[in-house]
Amino acid sequence: MSYRVLITEPIVESVIQKLEEHFKVEVGERGQFYDEASLLEVIGDFDALLPMLSSPVTDKVLNAGNRLKVVANHAVGYNNVDIEAAQQAGIKVANTPGVLSESSADCAMALLLATARKIVEAQDFLYEGKFDGWDPLSFLGMELNGKTMGIFGMGRIGKAVARRAKGFGISILYHNRNRVEKELEQELDAEYIPKLETLAERADILSLNCPLTDETHHAIDAEMLKRMPSHALLINTARGPVVDEEALAEALHNGEIGGAGLDVFEEEPEVHPRLLTAPNCVLTPHIASATHETRKAIGMLAANAIIGVLDGTPDEQIPNLVHV
Ligand code: DGY
Repeated sequence: MSYRVLITEPIVESVIQKLEEHFKVEVGERGQFYDEASLLEVIGDFDALLPMLSSPVTDKVLNAGNRLKVVANHAVGYNNVDIEAAQQAGIKVANTPGVLSESSADCAMALLLATARKIVEAQDFLYEGKFDGWDPLSFLGMELNGKTMGIFGMGRIGKAVARRAKGFGISILYHNRNRVEKELEQELDAEYIPKLETLAERADILSLNCPLTDETHHAIDAEMLKRMPSHALLINTARGPVVDEEALAEALHNGEIGGAGLDVFEEEPEVHPRLLTAPNCVLTPHIASATHETRKAIGMLAANAIIGVLDGTPDEQIPNLVHV
């Protein structure tokens, strides 16, 4: 009997083909598996699941997966998967660390540049036919050279952001569960800040690069936003719920902070309506890892974990299994 794999929606074709060389593969339609009920209907037929971050792999889903042996999330963040329930059910979980750090860091810098230099606003102005000659006073933004970036979450993506920011003449502060090695602090000229509150107070730019956990949920709330300098920019390429979006919209409308570049939202794909009207905001639809190279690498890493688990490869030889 050949194992059956469910990919919740179309992904890079060569990844699907790779899995098809080994198993019977079904690919859902886009949007088909965005809720628990749709997964519950079919999960009993599959040995492996390759979900997007938009599919809720809940305890119910995992427990209904009688034959399910592995869930290989098509993302590095796995807050959509109930890890404890998977462990209890003996189902392995994999994610895709490492392969999207550079593209995600590029996106954080793109949002920072666009927000700091009002690129979208300026483009709209030009497209609306309002460009009537060089203006010494229009679209004045924040110069990045000499500014300080606070990085919340110094994992692989945080480090890739820090390296890029350093190239722009930005000094790095960071807050993380654990302090990183001295050599890395030296390489990045990065100062460890034990309290998130202090990071918020000292940073001209606050870049969120942490996973979403119980501890980081709404870590950036009204109180934290008040601590940020009024010119400061918030860049979020991590997960929407790290920020209290209602409080952020309020802070932006009241001029409590200078702007925000957001790739992720609390209730994706919904975007808080007051963010859509907030000043100096650049909003993108969760595209941080969206490069040809990265999306293929993400898919291959997830596929390899499925092949490894279903072929009986020892756990220690599958580098991207999540251990908690
Ligand atoms: C991830 O992998 O967690 C990213 O958010 C995908 O873009």
